[in-house]
Amino acid sequence: MDTRVSLMKPYYITTPLYYVNARPHIGHAYTNILCDTFARWRKFLGEEVFFLTGTDEHGTKIDRAAREQGMDPKTYVDQMVPQFQELWRVLGIEYDFFIRTTDEEHKKIVQQVLKTLEAKSEIYRSSYKGWYCTPCESFWTKLQLVNSKCPDCKRDVQELGEENYFFKLSKYQQWLIQYLNEHPEFVQPEIRKNEILGFLREPLEDLCITRPRSRLAWGIDYPTSKDHVVYVWFDALINYVSAVKYGVDEKKFKSIWPADVHMVGKDILRQHAVYWPIMLKACGIEMPRTVMAHGWWTMEGSKVSKSRGNVVDPADLVKRYGTDALRYYFLHETRLGMDGAYSEDLLIERFNSDLANDLGNLVFRATSMLERYFSLKIPVLSIKKQDDEIDRQCTSLREQSLSLLKLISETMERFEPQGAIDAIWAVIRSGNRFVEQTKPWVLAKEKKMDSLSLVLTTLLESIRLTSMMLTPFLPVSSQKILDLFGVGQRPQARDFKWGSLTPGFCVKKGEPLFPKVE
Ligand code: MSP
Repeated sequence: MDTRVSLMKPYYITTPLYYVNARPHIGHAYTNILCDTFARWRKFLGEEVFFLTGTDEHGTKIDRAAREQGMDPKTYVDQMVPQFQELWRVLGIEYDFFIRTTDEEHKKIVQQVLKTLEAKSEIYRSSYKGWYCTPCESFWTKLQLVNSKCPDCKRDVQELGEENYFFKLSKYQQWLIQYLNEHPEFVQPEIRKNEILGFLREPLEDLCITRPRSRLAWGIDYPTSKDHVVYVWFDALINYVSAVKYGVDEKKFKSIWPADVHMVGKDILRQHAVYWPIMLKACGIEMPRTVMAHGWWTMEGSKVSKSRGNVVDPADLVKRYGTDALRYYFLHETRLGMDGAYSEDLLIERFNSDLANDLGNLVFRATSMLERYFSLKIPVLSIKKQDDEIDRQCTSLREQSLSLLKLISETMERFEPQGAIDAIWAVIRSGNRFVEQTKPWVLAKEKKMDSLSLVLTTLLESIRLTSMMLTPFLPVSSQKILDLFGVGQRPQARDFKWGSLTPGFCVKKGEPLFPKVE
């Protein structure tokens, strides 16, 4: 487990900043669900957490979307941002700060960073030759052109020369290669690190970090030239330090930075694993611990995205199946790092089999039996030895349940929420088997009340511990189960102990947790 002293620095986890040129879809929801799960997991361990999300609001994409709606960009972004915040509310995403790249403080910090880099001679002005596609308003390098045409719309392009500002990426190429090799945890999973190292085998070009205002006015003003605005990626990446007051409140910054995890999609890894570390290095800022790249959700083999028109509205899914079903599906259906083929049919199948049949049923059976045989009161346990076979079954379920804390800690440390859920489900399935094997109804008929008491308390304890472990993954339904046992809100790892149910305690009988979906 992580040995850091939690009192000194919170676990700092970030999502990418979402472009606000369209409503959020399941791809965006996925990243935030992942981060929320890791944030809740750390809180469960008793750590402080700082969870950052927000919106990316400058650049051509946004400018164009605003104009298509007949709005000025600022009015446009102001009415898009609440749609993201509303989705995070519906999904129960517990972020600590929401940053917008149009925030005045962020803009000021970006300008400050640029001035610092200029003073350190990390930036130079130079002319830039490229090919411009007027309908797409995009600038391409010769290499990007396809048959001398725009790679997006395949129309003719025009050769243009522009004066711009450049950041000296190339100077740091060797340093970055060495850093990646010496810090295998920095870019994960490993295949993505290898991709970045592969990319770095070719010479790295300096990064053009401005756009002439005449071509694009919607950006942060470049601090030393009134003719330029800042390139959107350079602006956006800085959010990870501006949100924690870099250069504004040094004490606060030092108490939170470096980030523990930047969670990003694989399509934006180069910006996070090449541009960003070099920007930090040039500024003399400590590196984040890990950039974790997740895969894509696809439909019929294509990435789910607005431009492909195959988006699914996460709020709609929540309405039909609840947030926990969505979380379960996204966290469990694919290994973090791999792509996943989205299928609503599969989501329903998992809902009915794993959530309703395995978990929902187990809780229902246990509480029904406690009601039938003990009027919902936890029975007093006899200290004398019970039937050998029953003892063996009870010990085995207890040990398996108690092993969860260590198992989940290890899987979460390795960024494997899917493995964590598998481990929890193994205990849930053992619980159902335990009922079949110990046959409490036979024990009741034969009046073996000591054995029956032991079996039921063991089962309920196992459910209680399993539900505690489920809180980061299924926050709503796990808390509903814990409420039956009178466990307060947000239990923590330090409460993960066997035997907290006291004899005489009256367990509540709840509503069905996951009514089956047809
Ligand atoms: N604004 C930039 C990020 C700047 S971070 C300083 C951006 N925005 S985005 O809205 O286009 O994408 C945000 C995130 O959503 C990315 O990590 C991207 O990988 C993720 N996803 C978008 N579509 C996705 C899927 N279909 N599946 C999974 N995630 C995907 O890039």
